[in-house]
Amino acid sequence: MKIRVLVTKEQLEEKTAELAKAIERDYKGKELVLVGVLKGGFIFLADLVRKISMDVTIDFISVSSYGDSTQSSGDVRITKDIDSDITGKHILLVEDLIDTGLTLNYLKELFNTKGCASVKLAAILDKPDRRKVDLTVDYAGIQIPDEFVVGYGLDWAGKYRNLPEVCVVEEI
Ligand code: IMP
Ligand code: MG
Repeated sequence: MKIRVLVTKEQLEEKTAELAKAIERDYKGKELVLVGVLKGGFIFLADLVRKISMDVTIDFISVSSYGDSTQSSGDVRITKDIDSDITGKHILLVEDLIDTGLTLNYLKELFNTKGCASVKLAAILDKPDRRKVDLTVDYAGIQIPDEFVVGYGLDWAGKYRNLPEVCVVEEI
């Protein structure tokens, strides 16, 4: 496979630090639960929480979307739910990338029915050109063009999540 680096480690670290600072400022004195969206969100969540210097709790939700491997269908299925009680808590959903927006739109609506104090969204990468739903990303990361990327949690057929940079797949 031929890949090209699109977003460097330094860019990812800088943006993550910036978002962590904003999160700390906005949630000061509040009970915050960071909910990582698996599998892709695990690396960003791990980097983000280590830059937040206030008490937070962490949970995970795993989703899969029906459709082909490179296209989200919006028909989201929960394959592993959170296991903590989130009633009255502030929820921040942490994703790797927002593409069509269908996944986070679905999750936001779902969490809005669970009696949380608030539900907000964070994603380290954003492909704004691909959006199919109008979605407010409260903590939006780095904007990238409409190209298929891997690394920093993102996969192609389950692989390449461990690459430290975000790379474009030029040839398979
Ligand atoms: P959407 O916003 O519902 O369309 O889907 C977002 C999810 O699709 C992301 O969290 C990724 O898991 C996956 N995804 C979208 N674009 C890419 C890509 O370029 N590479 C790898 N996964 C992607
Ligand atoms: Mg994902």
